[in-house]
Amino acid sequence: MATIVGCVCTSHVPAIGGALARGLEQDAYWQPFFAGFPPVREWLGRVKPDVAVVFYNDHGLNFFLDNLPTFAVGAATEYRNEDEGWGIPALGSYPGSPALSWHIIESLVAADFDPASCQRMLVDHAFSIPMRLLWPDRATMPAATVPIAINTVQHPLPSPRRCYRLGQTVGRAIASYPEDLKVLVVGTGGLSHQLDGARAGHINREFDLMCMDKLVHDPAALIHYTVDDLVDVAGSQGVELMMWMAARAALGPRARCIHSNYHVPISNTAAGLLALEATGSVELA
Ligand code: DHB
Ligand code: FE
Repeated sequence: MATIVGCVCTSHVPAIGGALARGLEQDAYWQPFFAGFPPVREWLGRVKPDVAVVFYNDHGLNFFLDNLPTFAVGAATEYRNEDEGWGIPALGSYPGSPALSWHIIESLVAADFDPASCQRMLVDHAFSIPMRLLWPDRATMPAATVPIAINTVQHPLPSPRRCYRLGQTVGRAIASYPEDLKVLVVGTGGLSHQLDGARAGHINREFDLMCMDKLVHDPAALIHYTVDDLVDVAGSQGVELMMWMAARAALGPRARCIHSNYHVPISNTAAGLLALEATGSVELA
């Protein structure tokens, strides 16, 4: 059977792609951000996941306002990265696992979710930058990926509670997949940030650190926030925290923190990183 080995959540700011392209990892501005990753890469190098299931939010590349699913699961043989307009280099293609994708889609529909199933899907910086940060050497990247997109672009957005339940259902789907695969769940986005409007640049360190703490041992504590609460406390793009909640929910109730990092700001964003190892099994009920 497939096993979820852990969960890594990270911010996905496009400027990171520019910094990587220009080799600025040791630059004073960037160093405290990039310094978070080596311990996580070292752990991933030991665990060697076969598959990465990635909860991320598309920013207008694959889906636009005219056609915007609340939840979308990739079911393609590969996912090509393109730049939706930041001017950062595209990072290539990522292999899919249609069989695992369809198993997840079937499990979601059986549990009363209605995801779009995407046999063609482009992935934006929210997918490609975390993949590059976790596996700078493509040769060590998991052999397959399953992108799961959650709408954070056009309201109404799904609630944090709904995203958490989506994650729990995906976790159970993975744990019931008959192949012996080690699966890493990834959540990308957040933490607090707001890119435009009167509160552009809004960051809430106290809230972010509280969330990172709760995500380790008591993630369900966060499902009581509404989308409007998240916009108020974490900024209009701070709703990307819901990707972290979905990924964490997939891991099951018990987890151990491998490493975390928090650095403010990267561009307009509070950059967080949290790597968790599963310490119990996902409950299949
Ligand atoms: C920034 C952050 C994001 O999450 C994003 O998708 C785009 C830009 C930023 O801080 O610049
Ligand atoms: Fe974003």
